[in-house]
Amino acid sequence: MDNKDFLPLNGTDFIEFYVSNSLQAARYYQSAFGFQPLAYSGLSTGHKSIESYVVQQGKIRLVFSSPLISGTPIGKHIDQHGDGVKVIALMVDNAEKALKETVSRGAEIAHNFESLEDQDGSIHISGIKTYGDTIHLFVDRSNYKGVFMPGFVAWETEYKPSELGLKYVDHMVGNVGWNDMNNWAEFYAKVMGFTQLISFDDKDISTDYTALMSKVMSNNNGRIKFPINEPAEGKKKSQIEEYLNFYEGAGVQHIALATSNIIETVTKLKNRGVEFLHVPNEYYDTVMDRVGEIDEELEPLKDLRILIDRDDEGYLLQIFTKPIGPRPTVFYEIIQRKGAKSFGKGNFKALFEAIELEQSKRGTL
Ligand code: FE2
Repeated sequence: MDNKDFLPLNGTDFIEFYVSNSLQAARYYQSAFGFQPLAYSGLSTGHKSIESYVVQQGKIRLVFSSPLISGTPIGKHIDQHGDGVKVIALMVDNAEKALKETVSRGAEIAHNFESLEDQDGSIHISGIKTYGDTIHLFVDRSNYKGVFMPGFVAWETEYKPSELGLKYVDHMVGNVGWNDMNNWAEFYAKVMGFTQLISFDDKDISTDYTALMSKVMSNNNGRIKFPINEPAEGKKKSQIEEYLNFYEGAGVQHIALATSNIIETVTKLKNRGVEFLHVPNEYYDTVMDRVGEIDEELEPLKDLRILIDRDDEGYLLQIFTKPIGPRPTVFYEIIQRKGAKSFGKGNFKALFEAIELEQSKRGTL
């Protein structure tokens, strides 16, 4: 058991997207998802090459960064991948030890240990590479009182649409290449001390068309859960393969955000323009037989097209947005857990049929 405690993680510190227009991205997350303005770094703070906006809701912190000049690593990332997740930052007590422990187990360094300081204290960071061009930053902010990080100031803006009840990052899913799932599951096991919660194979997750395989990796205290997907052969192109083609490599597929009232949260998200996958009516004809008694009325769930699934420990309510950018890559899941610790396996078939409908509209099946 000792071996599992070499990398204690306290939660997701932030998620950083590389995007072509950081201000508009941040404004979208304010308007559509109810994130609140937190911090800014850019020309007016003396930063000449990158502009970043940070927004927050509950424990979820998102950073949007854009290049101010050509030829930057951010610019190249956007050119290849489109807007996407670059950094999954994890809270640690000791960033120097986190780097040492993971590198000694085979991790590649993405960011050497560094202490960032200003008048509000110091933040210790370090980082390692994971799938694709994605990295994990280890962040120790226990000695910092500023808004976000040294180099950032508070983002002062009058425009503050209300929050929508999003509380924390439940899980983040990575899509990796053909036959790569086991390599990356092993990476999280060996290098980061994660254990495997569940696996699905193509018999669980295949419809007439799409297919994928998935393993869910979790850290010791369960605060960090990373399902890893790879495509599988189907009659037509797997949605994972479509992602890999458009992202031009492995990367973050979806971010699941938790709410304690999914009906209210999703109603408001829809009112603010967020679009969700539309599952067929028939789904609701049989769902109650499958999941049994639940606290909610079926009608509002059906009206909003919220999905329901049950496991040994309880049930969960979930819904998936359409991709949030022009490329069919990154999307969001909104999830409310009522005891269930699983990921909605019972919904895969209904869900993938809905995704395929979208794929066929895009002509990418
Ligand atoms: Fe998910």
